[in-house]
This record gives sequence, C-alpha cells and structure tokens, in this order.
Amino acid sequence: MKVAFFSTKPYDYQFFEAANQAFGHELVFFEPRLTLETTPLAAGFPAICGFVNDELNASVLAVLARQGTRLIALRSAGFNHVDLTAAKKLGLTVLRVPAYSPYAVAEHTVALMLSLNRKVYRAYNRIREGNFALEGLLGFDLHGLTVGIIGTGKIGQIVAKIMSGFGCHLLAYDLYPSAEAKALGVQYVTLPELFSQADIITLHCPLTPENYHLINADTLSRMKPGVMLINTSRGALIDTLAVIESLKSGQVGYLGLDVYEEESDLFFEDLSGQVIQDDVFARLLTFPNVIITGHQAFFTRNALERIAEVTLANISDFEQGVSSPNEVTVEQHKK
Ligand code: NAI
Repeated sequence: MKVAFFSTKPYDYQFFEAANQAFGHELVFFEPRLTLETTPLAAGFPAICGFVNDELNASVLAVLARQGTRLIALRSAGFNHVDLTAAKKLGLTVLRVPAYSPYAVAEHTVALMLSLNRKVYRAYNRIREGNFALEGLLGFDLHGLTVGIIGTGKIGQIVAKIMSGFGCHLLAYDLYPSAEAKALGVQYVTLPELFSQADIITLHCPLTPENYHLINADTLSRMKPGVMLINTSRGALIDTLAVIESLKSGQVGYLGLDVYEEESDLFFEDLSGQVIQDDVFARLLTFPNVIITGHQAFFTRNALERIAEVTLANISDFEQGVSSPNEVTVEQHKK
C-alpha cells in the first residue's frame, strides 16, 4: 500500500525501511508535521502514517478523506490527537500500535525519578568544572516511600514492578483496577487519597477530555509538600501554570516531564539556534528541581523496531480487509 509518513526523522526511515523488507509497502517519508497546510502532500495516498504531534483534527481529516485517504496508521500508542468522531463520520479507519515497549517508557520514568532525587544532571556538570562539593546534591532513600501511580495499564504496571523492587509502597488509581497490579502489591485508593499520601506521583493514564488538567491548582494543593511529580504520559494532564506556582512555593519539590502540553511547537526539532518563544516553558527551565526530556521515553531501539513492524502489519491488515485489534474507535475512546 502507498503510505505517506509525516513528521519523519532519519531514524523513522532507518527502522521502517528495514521492517518493510517483509511487507513491501510503498513508503514515502515527509519531514513536515501534518497540519491543514501540509495536507496536499497526502493527496493520492490511501494511507497516511502519523506521530504524536501530527494534527488529526476534524478539518485535517476532512481534507484527507476528500483526497482519497482511507487509513490513518498511527505509529504511536496515544491517540488523543485524533478526532475519532470525525474519523468515523468520514469512514476513515484509525489503527495504532497499542504496545511496543512499555519497558522503554517505564524505565525512562524511573530514570527521571532517580536523576531528580540524586541530582545526577547537576553532579555531571559540577564534576566537569572541577567542583567536587556535595552541597545541594542531597537525596533521599526511595526505600520505604509511597509511590502513587495514576493509570495501571501496561506502563503503570511495569513502573509498579520496578518501584516495588526499590522497596516502595505502591498506591494506585485507575478507572479499571487490574488484578495483575494488585498481585504486584498495588493498593487501589481514591484520587484524593493518592494525592494526600504519595511521596512520588507518576502519571500513566491516557489523556482524555475527562482528565484534561488532572493535575491543577486544587489537586496540587492536596499533595504532600515537596512531592515529586512525574509525567511521561501526555502533557495536558498537567496545568503547567499551576505547577509553576507550586514549584515556586515549594509544594512541588521535584518535577520530571517527558511531555508538555504545548510541546508540538518545540519537541523533536533542533531549536538550539533560536529564541524560545514559549515563556511558560522557558520558566520551567529555570528551576533547579525540574528535568524535562523531549518526549523520548519511547525512544529505544527495541521500541522503534516494534513500532515499525506493528504499523506495517496494521497497514497490511487494512489492505487485506482483516479486522484488527489495533483499531481505535470512538466507543473505545470513551471506555
Ligand atoms: P494502557 O492502555 O495499557 O493503560 C492505561 C491505563 O490508564 C488503563 O489501565 C486505563 O484504565 C487507565 N485510565 C484511563 N483513563 C484513566 C483516568 N481518567 N484515570 C486513571 N486511569 C485511567 O496504556 P499504556 O501503554 O500503559 O500507556 C499509558 C500512556 O502512556 C499512553 O496513553 C500515552 O499517553 C503514554 N505514552 C507515552 C510515551 C512517551 O514516549 N512518553 C510512549 C507511549 C505511551
């Protein structure tokens, strides 16, 4: 099948071309992000392949459908950026890669926790400048602390397993508590209970209209003073302005982000020669107790191999009329 890839980087080309040896699709790689302005690039392509910051809103989908596209093959697990109601109306099928390496994201989550706690990023710079002083690098034992996990799906459960290895108590909140998570020692509680008891709170639920700004001024005020907050899920789960206020007051003691609500204008590009125009993001960068990575939690060799294989298999299934468990529907979205 002829597929137009958007938001592509050299690593997409490398992993997809290698995996495509087994599929034989016709892959065309475009660097620009999919927006209303770039939709003409997709003309004549029955399938397009998009990533997390491609715009798949109703107007873009309408143009794609008019141009003959029938399949939206996401090379991501998250699908919050797709207007599924519009896709359904337009007869567009949406497929995703539900799991490629939950380990990649879970391990990066723990990397953020450890770096923030033991200030590895500050120590790295100090030592290079010949500064061997320890002041300002004081950490704490993870052993015995309480970790609150919001969303105990594939990634949340692996985080639970790792943190259990550190000797942490595990609290969790999920709309659908899982027996597997309970077997790992996770105790399900209400959100207010999780907010008031956890020393570390980590987000692993999808972004939905219901949980937009789940972390806001009110919920932040219910947390333990000095809490560590980690978000490797989706940026808009956190109200960034509210978290900045909490960082200023000390209510939030540590913040680790791999995602940011306005990331689409920043992430995945080398902007080092430019002035960053986003003042909220720039403020976040000024805190010594904040680490931001640019949506790289998924970025392991294993994950990229799997993403390419599953995406191309999804496209083959669609081409052959095979119904796929990887289809995303409005009904599922509401579950
Ligand atoms: P999953 O579908 O296995 O698990 C999600 C869990 O969240 C489910 O148990 C679900 O019941 C629960 N949930 C749904 N709505 C909720 C709510 N309002 N409150 C609490 N729990 C809720 O998904 P998986 O694979 O664990 O991924 C989780 C999220 O991680 C994805 O939705 C995506 O946004 C993010 N992600 C981030 C990546 C990165 O590179 N930073 C890469 C891959 C995923």
